[in-house]
Amino acid sequence: MRQEDATTCPRLITEGYRDRVHPEIYDELARQGPVRRVLLLGDVPAWVVTTRAEADDVYRDPRLVKDPLRVAALGQAIGTRRVPEDLPAVAGRQLMNLDGEDHARVRRVIGKRLSDAALERWQPAIDRAVEHRVEALAAHDSADLVRDFATPLVIEVVACVLGVREELTGTIMRHGRRLLGTGSPRSAEWTESYRLAVEAADRAVRERDPDDGDDVLAAMLRGRRDGLLSRREITSNLIMLMLGADLPVVGFIAHGAAVLQDDHRERAALLGGDAAAVVDRLVAKRPPIPFSSWRFAVEDLEIAGQRVAAGDAVLVLTATANRDGTANRDSTANRDTTANRDTTACPVTAGAARGRSSGHLSFGAGPHRCPGGPLALRQAATALPALFRRFPGLRLEVPLSEVPWHGGIGPRVPEQVRVRLTGTRS
Ligand code: HEM
Repeated sequence: MRQEDATTCPRLITEGYRDRVHPEIYDELARQGPVRRVLLLGDVPAWVVTTRAEADDVYRDPRLVKDPLRVAALGQAIGTRRVPEDLPAVAGRQLMNLDGEDHARVRRVIGKRLSDAALERWQPAIDRAVEHRVEALAAHDSADLVRDFATPLVIEVVACVLGVREELTGTIMRHGRRLLGTGSPRSAEWTESYRLAVEAADRAVRERDPDDGDDVLAAMLRGRRDGLLSRREITSNLIMLMLGADLPVVGFIAHGAAVLQDDHRERAALLGGDAAAVVDRLVAKRPPIPFSSWRFAVEDLEIAGQRVAAGDAVLVLTATANRDGTANRDSTANRDTTANRDTTACPVTAGAARGRSSGHLSFGAGPHRCPGGPLALRQAATALPALFRRFPGLRLEVPLSEVPWHGGIGPRVPEQVRVRLTGTRS
C-alpha cells in the first residue's frame, strides 16, 4: 500500500485556472496515476480519482459517505474548519449531505418528479420558454447567451418544474451563484446571500399549496404531510435543486451553442432530429461540472493501492475519467480552437447505458447520480435547435479563450458567451 507525502501535494486551483475550461492540471493529475492528493482552496486536502474503473468503485463504495458531519470528529478539514460557516453545504440536510435510508427517503420524493417520464408533461412549458427567449433575442444584433438567453430560459423552466414563482426562483439562483463561487464562506457578502436565499426559499414554501400541482415543491409538501420530509429538509433541498438547476445548465446551453456554431457535423445532426444524442455527447465531452461532489472515508481504505485514511475527502475528476483510455496517452487531447484547451478525445458513445463500464459520468453514478440530468438534457435539446433555426448565422463575437470561466470544483462554465446574431430570419 502506498502512502503519499502530504507536503508534495499540488494546489488544484492556481493562477490561470479560471482561464481554461480544462486546466493543464487535470491531465497532469491523470498522468500521475489513478488517485492523487491535492490541496483545494483554503489548503483543504482531498484525493482526486482520475480513472474510470476507480471512479466506478468510488461512486458505489458504502465506506465513502456524503455527510461531512459524520467525519468531522475524525479531523476532516472540510468537516471541521470550513463547515461551521459553510451552511448550505453542510448544515443543510439536502441530498448531497445525506446517506443511506435518509438519502433514499428524500430522493424518492424528489426523483419521481424529475424523471424523464415525469418531465414529459412539462415539455410544452419548455417549448414556450424557449420560444419566448429566442424571440427576445431577435430584437438584437448581438447578445450574451449566458445573460440574455440561457439564464432567463432556465429561470422560466425551473420555476414551472419546481413550483416556485419566477421572481423567487431568480432571487435564489442569483444568491446561489455567490454561494457556489470561490468567495470565502466567512465573508459578509456570502453570509448575506445565504440569508436571502433561505428567506426566498422559505417564502416559496409558505406560498405553495401542496394540493395544487405536480411540481417538485408541491410533492415535497405532500411528503411532509405524510411524514416523509421535515420542513427544514424541504427548504434546504429546494435551495440545492435551484443551485443544481442554474449555472450547470445555463453554462451547458451557452457553451454548447458556442461549440456547435463551429462544428458543422454536430450542428447538422442537431437540426436533423438527433438533438438528444448531440446534447448527450456534448455533456460527455465537456462536463459542465468537472468533479463529482465530495465523499468522505469512514474507515481506512485503499483506492488503486493508495491508502486513504478515515476522514479523508475523495472527489472524482469526471473530466478525465470520462475519457479514460485516451486521455493519458493522447497529448493532442487539449487542442480545441473554440473552447481553449477543451477535451476532444472523449470515447464515450451517446445514449450508452449507464452501466459500470459504459456511458459517461458527467451526472455522476450510483445512488447520488444527479437527479436533474433529464431536465438539463431536455432543456438543451429544445433550446439549441431552436436557437440555430432562428439564427442560422450565429457566430461567436468573443473567443471563449478570452472570457473567464467560473472557478472552483463546482460548475465550470463560461461567464459570458457573446455572439453575433447574423442571419436572423425575422
Ligand atoms: C448539465 C447540467 C448538470 C450537470 C452536469 C450536473 C452534474 C451533477 C453532478 C456531477 C452531481 C454529483 C453526482 C455525484 O457526486 O455522484 C450532481 C448532483 C446533483 N444535482 Fe446535478 N447536474 C446538472 C443539472 C442539475 C439540475 C437541472 C438539477 C435540479 C433540477 C440538479 C440537481 C442535483 C442534485 C439535487 C444533486 C445531488 C444528488 C444526490 O446527492 O443525491 N442538477 N449533479
